[in-house]
Amino acid sequence: MIRIYLGTITALWGNCMDSIKKPHPDSEPLDPNVPEESLDPLDWGPLRELGHRMLDDMLSYQETVRQRPAWKPIPEEVLRALDEPLPLEPQGAESAYADFKEQVLPYPVGNIHPRFWGWVNGTGSPLDMLSEMLAAGMNPNAAGFQQSSTYVEFKVLDWLKEMLAFPPGAGGILVSGGSVANLVALTVARNARAGFDVRRNGMRDSPRLCMYASSETHSSVQKAVEFLGMGSESLRYIDVHDDFSIDVDALHAAVRRDREAGMRPIAVIGNAGTVNTAAMDDLDGLADVCAQENLWLHVDGAFGALAWLSPKLRPLLRGMERADSLSFDLHKWMYLPYDVGCTLVRRADEHRDTFALEPAYLSPMQRGVSQVATVFSEFGLDLSRSFRALKVWMALKARGVHQYTRLIEQNVAQAAYLAKKVEHSKALELMAPVRLNIVCFRYAPAGVPEKSLNEMNQHILERIQEEGIAVPSHTVLDGRFCIRVAITNHRTRRSDLDLLVRETERGDIENET
Ligand SMILES: Cc1ncc(COP(=O)(O)O)c(C=O)c1O
Repeated sequence: MIRIYLGTITALWGNCMDSIKKPHPDSEPLDPNVPEESLDPLDWGPLRELGHRMLDDMLSYQETVRQRPAWKPIPEEVLRALDEPLPLEPQGAESAYADFKEQVLPYPVGNIHPRFWGWVNGTGSPLDMLSEMLAAGMNPNAAGFQQSSTYVEFKVLDWLKEMLAFPPGAGGILVSGGSVANLVALTVARNARAGFDVRRNGMRDSPRLCMYASSETHSSVQKAVEFLGMGSESLRYIDVHDDFSIDVDALHAAVRRDREAGMRPIAVIGNAGTVNTAAMDDLDGLADVCAQENLWLHVDGAFGALAWLSPKLRPLLRGMERADSLSFDLHKWMYLPYDVGCTLVRRADEHRDTFALEPAYLSPMQRGVSQVATVFSEFGLDLSRSFRALKVWMALKARGVHQYTRLIEQNVAQAAYLAKKVEHSKALELMAPVRLNIVCFRYAPAGVPEKSLNEMNQHILERIQEEGIAVPSHTVLDGRFCIRVAITNHRTRRSDLDLLVRETERGDIENET
């Protein structure tokens, strides 16, 4: 029996050694008679010509955006055409580009249009489009290393810290957007404040760790808490005041109650602009509670944090400068092309301690490319990363911070203008205070019963979108359907808002008798 077993092992070992010695039958050396191929063109002329045409087309596309409808539905035949089988053989770049122009380019959601105010979408700009092309042309893997992209990103992070009153030594990372920025920040918060080594031991046997946020907080925060293995019950939603800002006293009471019940409160998430109404939490009040209760303060400033740039608006954000971490998007109120968001963490060591790992193949060397390690993977989830920093660097250099300050103030003034028009209209009703750049309102002329208003306003919004007039989105406040206008759009003009008001005042024309 033992002999059979040993015999089998010897045979397997022999086979194994044979397969190491012999070349694998599929890995023949290159046949010198077969030309090697690559993805570069053999003749650069036609691709150069196509590339110039693409660039011209896209510049014209942006130049003429106002002449097109804000949105149009995708026709059935286009959806059918898009539903293609996997291409095994080439159709050629010219033909693929023709399909792009016919099937893709005409059917965006509309966020580069002057009358797009849905959700919180940025607009992009022609210069930023060109920056994206430059980054794609260089195509660095911006993981770190001794290369220019590393130093551009370091500089961009320095500038962002300076712009938002974070200390120069703070940790920071560019990420895909606000949702991931929240996840990164809350991971650091959990690890720094859990009271045990989460990286080593996981969450086993721990008391319930609790985080606190207003009921108006963006859903990405709950997703992050769930993703961190804490369970959605660990995110304690706190009631808001009439202006949709968090009730700080209720928060403080909840923290004390949970602590007495044996749970472990670790963090508070404050809003610098809620997604529904741009409500501002009392960040200073939250920072006081956090100081008293030894809690981490994270501020979700996805769009609102950038209002800090404006001395006029900065008082709304008082206390943001006390946050332990801050997340914000540059593809929202810096109007940059998708995608780019950012997390800043006040103490870089806590940030690094959450993510840093150094496998042998990534360890730094004395000289050469690896004299700089994969530094960005020490501050977030990604190892391989795109050169997002370039579009931020180009934008800030080309325009300067002050132009962004003026544009943000312009959007806030436009929201105030719209709110005034709504208040002066007999047919319209303002549904939430307007502090920043979001206006929630509805069609509610005298005599129409409350129970009909939700359906009516939904119909009005559908008509306005389907006729290509504008793209506001919607939300529901206290059970009431609202048309919601979020202005993070450098192309919007007052006349665009006038048109929206006129079109809303027409009411539910398809259904009203
Ligand atoms: C307040 C707030 N937080 C987080 C997010 C998520 O950001 P992103 O869509 O970039 O992931 C948003 C998106 O609108 C937001 O408004």
